Amino acid sequence: MNKSNIYQQRRIELAKQICAKTAGGIAIITTAPESARNRDSEFPYRHDSDFFYLTGFEEPGATLVLKIAGSSSNPQLESHLFCRPKDAEREIWDGIRLGPEAAPEALGVEYAHSNHELDQKLSELLADQEAIYIRLSESAETDRRLRHWMKQVRQQARSGVNPPSELHDIEALVHEMRLFKDAHEIDIMRRAAEISARAHIRAMQVCKPGMREYHLEAELLHEFRHSGAQSVAYNSIVASGANSCILHYRAGSTELRSGELCLIDAGCELDGYASDITRTFPVNGKFTSPQRALYDITLAAQEAAIAATKPGNTFMQPHEAALKVLTQGLLDEKLLKLSELGSLDNAIESGAYRRFYMHRTSHWLGMDVHDVGSYREQFSASKNSSEEKPWRVLKTGMVLTIEPGLYVRPADDVDESFWNIGIRIEDDAVVNDSGCELISRGVPVKADEIESLMQNH
Ligand code: GLY
Ligand code: MN
Ligand code: MN
Repeated sequence: MNKSNIYQQRRIELAKQICAKTAGGIAIITTAPESARNRDSEFPYRHDSDFFYLTGFEEPGATLVLKIAGSSSNPQLESHLFCRPKDAEREIWDGIRLGPEAAPEALGVEYAHSNHELDQKLSELLADQEAIYIRLSESAETDRRLRHWMKQVRQQARSGVNPPSELHDIEALVHEMRLFKDAHEIDIMRRAAEISARAHIRAMQVCKPGMREYHLEAELLHEFRHSGAQSVAYNSIVASGANSCILHYRAGSTELRSGELCLIDAGCELDGYASDITRTFPVNGKFTSPQRALYDITLAAQEAAIAATKPGNTFMQPHEAALKVLTQGLLDEKLLKLSELGSLDNAIESGAYRRFYMHRTSHWLGMDVHDVGSYREQFSASKNSSEEKPWRVLKTGMVLTIEPGLYVRPADDVDESFWNIGIRIEDDAVVNDSGCELISRGVPVKADEIESLMQNH
């Protein structure tokens, strides 16, 4: 399929979803604003994921408006893109703009206009439409513009024009679509994960006691950019020693010390898609025996979660499988006391494990690293609507991370040999018809393989 057709097909699918709710309407999605870093410097621009999903367009200053009519089996759709107009002077400074003249051909939209015409055109497009689909509570600016557009349509009332009377949130519809990745998306995600896996290998291979965390971050970034990835998918975590127990640590300036572990959680963003990999390895290339014991428990927990990542299981089943292995391991290593807890089931039910494992095992992965899509089924199994909806059933095309960990801080009741051991092992899984495909295993995960990679290169 040609690239603009992919986005066109998504817009048609969205139109079908909208027609299933109301007799058409107007859908409006604006891309992300540019953001100042300080004074005249801006953060590198990153488009809005929902907007990009429906357009493939990466420039700032753009809005997609869909005029939808018909039925869900036969939707009629008119796509209007509002974008920055060509401007020879600005393009010298900021770069080439696509411009409304070239947009229909490049993006497969029926109409394109300058973004200066947005207010005027919307008052025409909204006339006599029943419903507006927009991201509710997106920003104060969106609320302000929406009020402005509504006011403009109401002003035409004396000419017999009716304003829309229903406001719907478009987010849930687009996010449900984004939860299921198509072949085009999975292909990009595979390539993103391959690049990130190479970056992790590079960091392990150069790692030596005496280096600092930021040196390894530099190696990761080198591999990402050298391989054509546009950005990191999130700020890289390079956490050594006690820092490995801080979940949202960044790469700092701590010196990497022999005998300590280094935890790297880093992934690139390629063509708008994230990868998310964590590996934990010994700074000097050889695990100590307490490190190795906890590493092997974490890996066994990950393997149990991977086996539970298959269609028909719920989103929570991999987590529950990992939890069982981790908690048994904590009991075996006497980090949790069987004499106090009585049984494995009680150690899990009481939440005693949370002291050493305080996060979930998975999240959706896609354009955003913590990707969109509901973690609960949308229907309610019971008639009582206040009851919690069941966890989402895994289906082919969903992509999620599998990332168990163990984090042991110093404490009087913890054997000192385990202090400051923080371990997480994270891979990216695409659910397929028979189970799942791990797309991030280009980097070794077994302790022996990591040791041999670090020692023989
Ligand atoms: N890198 C973010 C996460 O693992 O959730
Ligand atoms: Mn993750
Ligand atoms: Mn991660």
